[in-house]
Amino acid sequence: MTDAHPGPLPRTDRPTWPEGLPGIAFGADHNPEQWDESVWLEDVRLMREAGVTMVSVGIFSWALLEPRPGEIDLGWLDRVVDLLHAHGIAVDLATPTAAPPAWLYAAHPEAWVVDRAGVRLGPGSRGIMCPSSPAYAEAATRITRALAERYAAHPAVRMWHVHNEYGAPVHECHCATSQVAFRDWLRERHGDLDTLNAAWGTAFWGQRHGTWEEVRTPAAAASVVNPAQQLDFARFCDDELRACFVRERDLLHAAGDAVGRPLPVTTNFMATSCAHVDYWAWAREVDVVANDHYLTGERRDAHVLLAMDADLTRSLARGRPWILMEHSTSAVNWQPRNIAKRPGEMARGSLSHLGRGADGILFFQWRASRSGAEKFHSAMLPHGGTATRGWREVVALGRAVGRLAEVAGSRTVARVALLWDWESCWAQDLEWRPSTDLSHRERTEAFYSALWAAGVTVDFAHPGDDLAAYDLVVAPQLYLVTAASAASLDAYVRGGGTLLVSFFSGVVDEHDAVHPEGLSGPLGTTLGLQVEEFHPLRADESVALASGLRGDVWSEHVVVGEDTEVLDTFADGPVAGLPALTRRRLGGGQAWYVATRVDGPALATLVDRVCEAAGVERLDLPAGLEVVTRTSEAGAAYVVALNHADTPAALPAHVTGLDLLTGARVEPGAHLDAGAAAVVRLD
Ligand code: GAL
Repeated sequence: MTDAHPGPLPRTDRPTWPEGLPGIAFGADHNPEQWDESVWLEDVRLMREAGVTMVSVGIFSWALLEPRPGEIDLGWLDRVVDLLHAHGIAVDLATPTAAPPAWLYAAHPEAWVVDRAGVRLGPGSRGIMCPSSPAYAEAATRITRALAERYAAHPAVRMWHVHNEYGAPVHECHCATSQVAFRDWLRERHGDLDTLNAAWGTAFWGQRHGTWEEVRTPAAAASVVNPAQQLDFARFCDDELRACFVRERDLLHAAGDAVGRPLPVTTNFMATSCAHVDYWAWAREVDVVANDHYLTGERRDAHVLLAMDADLTRSLARGRPWILMEHSTSAVNWQPRNIAKRPGEMARGSLSHLGRGADGILFFQWRASRSGAEKFHSAMLPHGGTATRGWREVVALGRAVGRLAEVAGSRTVARVALLWDWESCWAQDLEWRPSTDLSHRERTEAFYSALWAAGVTVDFAHPGDDLAAYDLVVAPQLYLVTAASAASLDAYVRGGGTLLVSFFSGVVDEHDAVHPEGLSGPLGTTLGLQVEEFHPLRADESVALASGLRGDVWSEHVVVGEDTEVLDTFADGPVAGLPALTRRRLGGGQAWYVATRVDGPALATLVDRVCEAAGVERLDLPAGLEVVTRTSEAGAAYVVALNHADTPAALPAHVTGLDLLTGARVEPGAHLDAGAAAVVRLD
């Protein structure tokens, strides 16, 4: 588990791309079961017009495929799949196990998910049933096997799409079955009760367990529940969900093997938006990484967060091409205020994903639904039909994607990595931390945004990964670090790397216990310092640094070792005169530490300084200009340039060549219009 992170390599013994799908895939979730069959032909005709090459089918159709227990009706799906095939549209066929039918709920009340507060979650919506439930497993196996056997050899089907967004909307269950499964999982992990008690620190608050039967899931209790127990439960839930995926995946693989046609199997991730599953582990189980991303419409920097999500997805795929399985043509329907996309915004978003490694650009969904919970969600074909701006932009994007076939397969390469570890996030997000203002997410976005603004392409990495390929590694907030990961980070620095660690990192081990080395844990040894005491700041408080920069949220009492340089100090506040920014040269590399929250220009200055020290090249880009490069094996370089600003932007001098979107030449000093995009094959 945590200590033996084997590196998130996708599986390699299977095809890693939908069969026979050249160029950049383009399409959507297609839900024809919501429509009269008379609409289906118009659908495929319009798909052709829009340049659609692949659709995901059947994701929520279990109740239609198996109307009564064991009575499988694939007739309508046959007709859908045949029709798509006749029109040259590839099918990414889904298992429908994210929408259990009403009859399954009725027959198995014991399989209803029970939440932390003890509420039973019944039918009428969507979502998994108890992930540990034998009844759910049996029913899911039956429908998956039926689909696998019928369609494994169907030429329209090029890939399998298991379930939908594991971890959402359900990620944990506290029912009776889950109690037993959790105990079994704990026996496997800890062996005996003494070890479990020690790992969970149950001597505190007299929580010692005397028998296995006393051990329960961390459901609602009078006060804070044991944090180590909660952390193990998060791991258990993730493992149970992943086991559901693996069960279906193996059935699909076996059916493919039986007909001599192995097809890739995927499931759609939500890279930065699902906090509950450890995608580093999931990425090792899928044949191709697929991801869903939706803009946070309220945020004016939503395009930067999009880039971050895409970069994390590429990192999960270990740099290999991945599929953007869902995004929206315009507004979604589930945010507090669902902001519609402005003209050109959809294309910029889609192309940003492409620039960051996506070789498939798909939407939720093809045709806007008239009924149900998502009728106010945008679609490729809007409620207003083809005489709409939305449709015209979709058709234009389809054409654009069609012109980018030669980009497929090229890679987006980064020299900088940000550390991202779901386990650390799970642990930090538990109750009673030193300040409610601590946020690993805020720090990650802040460091990412500063690098984005400097035109620096970023990978994400697990702290236990081999990081030797990176010139700079940043730990924005790595609260939990295992001894093994700390050793790996130490080796990275000694081997010549530059590591920047931001405060509240290295604090606890895999059991959420403070490291024996103290509050900076084994990372402190690498950094050449000890954090003696935390000094969180009041909500309205900030501190000055000797350099003139300011920090807020956090300060701490740092004691440095002999060979650690103090680059900046706190000028006022609770730890005036003590180190705020340090650097230790170690082996061939250097380890930097920042002990307060710097933001805005102060963070830009820090990032610039550490990039300079690490030899990382920055671009002097006008505000709002995004530039990212993909490079092919043959050496061709493609610059995707996106102007998110309302004024024209000068492209960097090195961007000269052919704009594949327009066929026009881009000469030195060229400008990109407000809101415009270019994909330039460099000379
Ligand atoms: C996704 C989900 C889709 C659809 C979409 C709406 O999370 O997978 O089925 O609900 O959100 O934005």
